[in-house]
Amino acid sequence: MRSLNYLGILSLLLGVPTHSLKAHDFKTCSQSGFCRRGRALSARAKEAGEAWSSPYSLDPSSISIASNQAIFIAGVKSALYPEINFGLELRVHDDGVVRVRMDEVRGLRKRYDEAASWALISEPTISSDIKWTAGKKDIRAAYGPKKENEVVVTFAPLTVALLRNGKEQVVLNGQGLLHMEHFRTKTQEVTHTEEAAPQEGAEAVSDDAQAVITPTNPRAWFEGDKEDDYWEETFSSWTDSKPKGPESLSLDINFPNHPVVYGIPQHATRLALPTTTGESPFFSDPYRLYNADVFEYLASSPMSIYGSIPVLHAHSADSTVGIFHAVASETWIDVGHSAEKSTETHWISESGILDLFLMPGPTPEDIFKQYSRLTGTTVLPAHWSLGYHQCRWNYVSSDDVRTVQKRFDEEDMPVDVFWLDIEYSEEHKYFIWDKKNFPDPVDMINDVATLGRKMVVIVDPHLKRTSDYPVYQAASEKGLLVKTKSETEYEGWCWSGSSAWVDFFNPNVWDWWKSLFKTQQISTWSWTESTNAVHIWNDMNEPSVFNGPEITMPKDNIHHGGWEHRDVHNINGMLFSNLTSQAVAERSEELTRPFVLTRAFYAGSQRFGAMWTGDNLGTWEHMAVGVKIVLSVNIGGMSFSGSDVGGFFGNPEPEMLVRWYQVGAMAPFFRAHAHIDTKRREPFLLEQPYKGMVKDILRLRYSMLPIWYTAFRETSVTGLPVLRPHYVMFPKDKAGFDIDDQYYIASSGLLVKPVTEKDATEAKVYLPEDQVYYDYFNHHAYRGAANGKEITVPAALHQIPLFIRGGSIVSTRERPRRSSTSMKADPFTLRVALSRTGTARGELYLDDGETYAHRAGHFVWREFVAETPKKKSRTLRIASRDMGVARPGEAVDGVVLKAFNPANAYAQSIADVRVEKVVVVGLNSKPKTVKVEGGADLNWEFTLGVAAADKKEGTASILTIKDPRVSVVKDWAIIVEW
Ligand SMILES: *[C@@H]1O[C@H](CO)[C@@H](O)[C@H](O)[C@H]1NC(C)=O
Repeated sequence: MRSLNYLGILSLLLGVPTHSLKAHDFKTCSQSGFCRRGRALSARAKEAGEAWSSPYSLDPSSISIASNQAIFIAGVKSALYPEINFGLELRVHDDGVVRVRMDEVRGLRKRYDEAASWALISEPTISSDIKWTAGKKDIRAAYGPKKENEVVVTFAPLTVALLRNGKEQVVLNGQGLLHMEHFRTKTQEVTHTEEAAPQEGAEAVSDDAQAVITPTNPRAWFEGDKEDDYWEETFSSWTDSKPKGPESLSLDINFPNHPVVYGIPQHATRLALPTTTGESPFFSDPYRLYNADVFEYLASSPMSIYGSIPVLHAHSADSTVGIFHAVASETWIDVGHSAEKSTETHWISESGILDLFLMPGPTPEDIFKQYSRLTGTTVLPAHWSLGYHQCRWNYVSSDDVRTVQKRFDEEDMPVDVFWLDIEYSEEHKYFIWDKKNFPDPVDMINDVATLGRKMVVIVDPHLKRTSDYPVYQAASEKGLLVKTKSETEYEGWCWSGSSAWVDFFNPNVWDWWKSLFKTQQISTWSWTESTNAVHIWNDMNEPSVFNGPEITMPKDNIHHGGWEHRDVHNINGMLFSNLTSQAVAERSEELTRPFVLTRAFYAGSQRFGAMWTGDNLGTWEHMAVGVKIVLSVNIGGMSFSGSDVGGFFGNPEPEMLVRWYQVGAMAPFFRAHAHIDTKRREPFLLEQPYKGMVKDILRLRYSMLPIWYTAFRETSVTGLPVLRPHYVMFPKDKAGFDIDDQYYIASSGLLVKPVTEKDATEAKVYLPEDQVYYDYFNHHAYRGAANGKEITVPAALHQIPLFIRGGSIVSTRERPRRSSTSMKADPFTLRVALSRTGTARGELYLDDGETYAHRAGHFVWREFVAETPKKKSRTLRIASRDMGVARPGEAVDGVVLKAFNPANAYAQSIADVRVEKVVVVGLNSKPKTVKVEGGADLNWEFTLGVAAADKKEGTASILTIKDPRVSVVKDWAIIVEW
């Protein structure tokens, strides 16, 4: 988080100009040398039209095929620089993903090629079923179960295409914008523009048979006639020394017949990405990926914010394909639609190799599986972390924390976690308690923990440079800090004043960082004034540097291995949360699931914890765009996400705060947070009726925890996101492609339309299918239509448009408690929401919520099914059966289960936990009998209303079965007869 006041003071101290927004603190494409060069290249190509041709070609005589056909390697040249060698490598993975790598070979220097090694969970398995066939103009390989996929590499100009059933799906360099700027020496090149054409390279070109590239000076034609910011670049008051010179990478990636693209988070914009090129682009700049602490970010902009995931989905009614570019440097992406129904993108990165994964789909579900096989799934979080988190900058003392906790309990408002922002620490030396205000930290933590709750405390990556800070001292002595271009310790300004940054790329950091979190003294300094109830918030890890260029580190800073900061910027923040989550998991003898919240992230960060959308504003606009950002990071694999309830800045009026609690309660990560200058706004401070409304929302969240936890379990196994936008659920429904203000919660059958407008009394909701949808609260039945239908529903301030899709069974725990831990033995309510055809199905996943015992098979995973057994149309059978054995061999958090025993120790420990109520929604008529199969008649009530199979709308029929006395861990069936 950032403070206007703090920056005001800082600017006085440092003579830095005062920041208001913000846009001018950050580069536009035209202020970034390599982006300008990349866009100039596409402008020249456009101007040249048909005459444009890529100078890059593959030398067929250099092709070599290794590893039993699966890896294809060849030499590539640019006609402009015949003396420079490039290498292209293609591999087809066993799941059909194609990896395309290109690098300069035997260049003056080495390009950064390690981004994938940090992002991927392991080296992907190569297909054993590939055969490359070389022709005169291209080399190709067909693969897939029906050989429906084909990858084709054309020699001159070089293109790579992924085809399905003979049709192009993804095309690289189809527009001829591929350009890998090779390493050069300054003197050699400096005169290039002054030389009269033709030059050496040009002659080589003209000798060449494919010398269409031409006008008089082909290099200038392709690259521009001046060296634009090759060797040094100035922005505002900062100069980037660029000792390696130009090394950017430009590539066009086209998606023929895919009209919509999603992804490349994080940007504050719509989910279906608006255009940045063409006649009337929605945004004039490309989307930027460069993790940045953008103070008061704009609610609609292609600017970078805190995280970067270079993953894009291209979608049409009959196909979805995806790409993941493992690049860690600053990257800009143009999106346009010059041909109807197709999308062209242009990727421009400052440094690094080309390392691109083409994901063939063909459905959104396949893309999620393919992507999570590369970078991993969202780790199954600790159960308590799905509860409500109360944060503020700052709870000022240990007694403040105790009072806030007491107030929640007095008001019977559930909460699981109290957070401490930076002011807990003495002079912002993280780990070190400010004893003036927190004289008894361990007692305070224990007071919170005895009521089953946790604390989250902030630890940022900047270390105060002072001799009385043992953490800094150790890091400095061991040489674990990021260095300047002249290899001295880098110093910048952050919360702690003069600070240094831990270099997480250095392997020597890893064990040392973990040792800091040990709650027993094991090395020179460990955090003994902490307990296992403390979890961690990693903020400012873009990294944010108040007096740095674009509020981050100079790009010519040096990391371990000699890599420049420019090469690794976007993955820097991920390593920090990776190591912090390992540190928290391993801090004591007993391994427990860590909770780590990060602000910066990259592809793969989903393995380490949750993210939030940073310093949002308390405005309706920010509330609305927060929903879209959370959907888009879900697409990027980061399911555990949310935005600050209330907005970080400002004093939201009660109406806005209530709506914001509704948005938060329907997001995977649910935290309220506020800036130090805002008025206190804990929910118990609200007046009635708002206080009652927020209490109901908090209780709703807690009653739905079984749904959320089951959703996370599903995500951790399948890689499908927790929040699913329409195109993921109904890929063929064109009317849903642009919808990003309503979504489904995993495969629970719940559809949410958060209200993000002032004075709303009703909301419009799109129902994409011919199915009944029941209002979650009053069971009003609404009808969709096969080609989609918009309905209008009541949405007064106390109402959340939340629906159960007909055909779903949802499990809830309806007893209000003070925290999630006090609900562990509570009974369940099952809601059987019948489909039009009278069936329903749902899942419930449970485990101890804190340890890793689930990875050894200690969990309960039930499937509930309601159906009418054949030829007995006057019976509904609702059965509970085991899911664990149904899918042997499935991996949890990447760990494959060897065995699953339904009678495992965890299941036994909750054998007494029962289903206390079963509610069947949408029956045709009043039952005659309701009983447990093979057992006695049950107690039930029925109110006649609309049946699921009707065409009518209105309150549905409700059958309430009271206390059927069935265990949630056992197989059973309830028979309803009428
Ligand atoms: C990060 O996490 C993975 C596990 O997902 C681990 O294998 C890797 O070594 C970690 N370390 C760093 C420094 O990224």
